[in-house]
Amino acid sequence: MAFDPHTIRDQFPILSTQVHGKPLVYLDNAATVQKPLQVLESSRTYYEEVNANIHRGTHHLSQKATAAHEAARERIAHHLRASSPDEIIFTSGTTDGINLVANILTSQFQEGDEILISALEHHSNIVPWQMLAQRTGARLRVIPVLDGGTLDQEAFRELLSARTKLLALTHVSNAFGTPVPVKDFIKPAREVGALILLDAAQSVAHQAIDLQDLDPDFLVFSGHKIYAPTGIGVLYGKSSILSTLPPWRGGGEMIKEVTYESSTYNDLPFRYEAGTPNIEGAIALAAAFDWLTALDLSAVASHEQTLITEAAAQLAEIPNIHFYGPADRQGALSFNIEGIHPYDLGTLIDQMGVAVRTGHHCCQPLMNRFGITGTVRASFAAYNTSAEVDSLVAAVRQAAQMLS
Ligand code: ALA
Repeated sequence: MAFDPHTIRDQFPILSTQVHGKPLVYLDNAATVQKPLQVLESSRTYYEEVNANIHRGTHHLSQKATAAHEAARERIAHHLRASSPDEIIFTSGTTDGINLVANILTSQFQEGDEILISALEHHSNIVPWQMLAQRTGARLRVIPVLDGGTLDQEAFRELLSARTKLLALTHVSNAFGTPVPVKDFIKPAREVGALILLDAAQSVAHQAIDLQDLDPDFLVFSGHKIYAPTGIGVLYGKSSILSTLPPWRGGGEMIKEVTYESSTYNDLPFRYEAGTPNIEGAIALAAAFDWLTALDLSAVASHEQTLITEAAAQLAEIPNIHFYGPADRQGALSFNIEGIHPYDLGTLIDQMGVAVRTGHHCCQPLMNRFGITGTVRASFAAYNTSAEVDSLVAAVRQAAQMLS
């Protein structure tokens, strides 16, 4: 039976919001997705029945909170098919995870080494590597993007060499929705001995992540893009690699023993989790995974794909519209209308209740490559409907007439 978004909309109280007197049409899901009652209730129950600091107290609530936090780690490890919960490090989000990896890898890099990223990367998968390159004398190299918004695999193979120490690659482009066939990149990168980091921020809500199948060394994502709260995320790292690397942030929890002279560090995963973590967030993230997988992620993904295809087909009738990214785009549809600034279009359609993101989407080099300052991006989630696609198209059509 086809997935029916109407059956889940009641679980998202925010979706009945009125915006400027119009029903909200929320199509900014690649920026952050709304949260179902099951996730909201998980946070509320945590604070009403469990709240205490973890790993620290002998008292009942502390033990209960610790058990709930570690059970969340286990459930997330299970959903991602990690080999062990010890490979799941809780972070504040994708940016935090990439910065953590870039910092703990510092001693592994020297002058002349190369860090390979792609032209589709978000600033958070560019700037931490630039900073690593500045610290170590390594060089940042970029796999170019073709006009159709996919990566140039031939150029990638030419860029690879024994100097390539790390490939840091997005799984799906946040700006254009380009799905990257990451396995085609991982295998050749492995052959030259590079470490692999995948940025799954934009894929995790739209496709099952199977770590055994993808086999990256590191993978990062943010909870708030997968129906969980902001301020929680995951860094997956192979324990065989993480256990050989130094900690980054120092403080409580990440140590075994501290003297004024020196400290010894805790085992995985705690050595990378200094300080009181986002306990409620970790538990809510596990609840979000449970909620989404119970829906059947592949049915959700094919529903979203149908909406994107419908939106692209209907919008294509608007004169002078230009789309970015390939036809099999995932999660997001990016476009511009010649002569109209994306910000003006976004502001006008907001007046009609339609929420999209406009601008460079934290991808300035990608925008420069296409000679634009930004795009209008409509991005989709499980609860979006065909009627909302119609509202988007009607709003864009009307705004385009007003602005032309
Ligand atoms: N990275 C998020 C986006 O693409 C914020 O919108």
